Amino acid sequence: MAINKITEKLSEKLNKNVPRYTSYPVITDWKGQDENTWLNSLKSTYALGVDIYIHIPFCEKLCYYCGCFRTVTKNKEKSREYVHYLKKEWSLYLSKLPHLIKVNSIHFGGGTPSFLTPEQLIDLLKVFDNYKAPKFYGSIELDPRTVNEDHLIVLREFGFKKASLGIQDFDPSVQKAINREQSYELVKEKVDLIRKYGFDEVNFDLIWGLPKQSVKSVQDTFEKVNTLKPDRISFFSYAHLPERIKNQRLIKDSDILQGEAKLALFNSAQTYLVKNDYIPIGMDHYAKRGSKLHLAYENKTLYRNFMGYVENKSDILLGLGVSSISKNAKGFIQNIKSIKNYYEYIDAEHFPIEKGHSLSTEEAFRAEIIQILFCKFMVLKTDIMDLKNGEEIVKSLKEYQKIGLIEETDKSFKVNEEGKKYIRVIASLFDQYRTDEGAFSKAI
Ligand SMILES: C[S@@+](CC[C@H](N)C(=O)[O-])C[C@H]1O[C@@H](n2cnc3c(N)ncnc32)[C@H](O)[C@@H]1O
Ligand code: SF4
Repeated sequence: MAINKITEKLSEKLNKNVPRYTSYPVITDWKGQDENTWLNSLKSTYALGVDIYIHIPFCEKLCYYCGCFRTVTKNKEKSREYVHYLKKEWSLYLSKLPHLIKVNSIHFGGGTPSFLTPEQLIDLLKVFDNYKAPKFYGSIELDPRTVNEDHLIVLREFGFKKASLGIQDFDPSVQKAINREQSYELVKEKVDLIRKYGFDEVNFDLIWGLPKQSVKSVQDTFEKVNTLKPDRISFFSYAHLPERIKNQRLIKDSDILQGEAKLALFNSAQTYLVKNDYIPIGMDHYAKRGSKLHLAYENKTLYRNFMGYVENKSDILLGLGVSSISKNAKGFIQNIKSIKNYYEYIDAEHFPIEKGHSLSTEEAFRAEIIQILFCKFMVLKTDIMDLKNGEEIVKSLKEYQKIGLIEETDKSFKVNEEGKKYIRVIASLFDQYRTDEGAFSKAI
């Protein structure tokens, strides 16, 4: 069915508030997990190695659209103190887990990881030196305005190979409206440096639905993006939740597009990307043809976790720092968000757990179906019928089939290109807790 016909049918039903399903159950449905249960569940599974996520919650300047967990400051004394506590949190894991922990990868997110000075970065990374697995891989989110050559030297020496840059939009009037001014020339200079130091993957983050964007401005942005040839692109729908996220009140409602007008920004950008050899591999994500991520997509080895799409399935993720999420096959925990309370917990030699969840067999099964939906865009009929509300789900899928989002085969339902835009809505059919819509952003 033609895109126009679908967008005509873009009803409130499809454009509803839905989670992004970076975990299932989503955090608001977690029922709690204490320190001992978490440690015991880890002990039986960590021998194969762990991935580590480190959250750096500081940014030098506020981007008005930002929905990430961060605090704005220019004081590097704060990050020095924070690094001290990150190292202590890692020591706490080392003291509680009897065998050697093998670190397969480290991912730095934020906030702004490049807020740390190169010296602070060295100070932090050296505590992981003796634990790196032979195929260690590091990735980091970098702000083009703060990353410098010394950061890159430190990161490459340690084994970091993937860098993700926050671009958002190249149009000067959009950049002004979001309080994030960074020229094309500055970004180019940083991309050239990142490649000069031998990083083998560069990702760009961009957003559709920002204030002052138009189809034309988004096209111009992507023409500039294309000259820099990132290996991957994350293209997020702007999640505008001013009732909850105070800084977003600095964006005028009249400056942002909604519904079909917003979707037109996405459609034109996606058409441009596909024409220029970027393959849509999953929700919000594009991989340059021939890149590692594209090959994983082709080989059906793609996996999605809290950080986005990755090439390898990670069994254990340990999150260090405020607000970080940890995961293993049996459940999740999220760290405390207040920096002050985080320090107090660590000083008392307790894991700084704010909330957690132990997975039931039913939840683990639904989580697997949602994972397959987001990575392979299909669901097996036999899996659906194993669920208590299987018949109801099939009925809803057939409704989506009628409006051209889904195709039915003998053994499965497959989400087509048009349906991929609504993958969050389709996934929510498998969510046993989805009754209220309050806290999530619109699907479009
Ligand atoms: C956790 S942030 C960290 C990136 C880094 N601090 C930077 O801005 O350069 C990762 C990405 O989330 C996206 N993001 C932040 N707020 C958003 C929002 N309200 N809606 C959609 N995407 C958002 C941005 O594209 C951002 O680059
Ligand atoms: S988008 Fe990035 S740099 Fe901007 S405030 Fe959010 S975390 Fe900080």
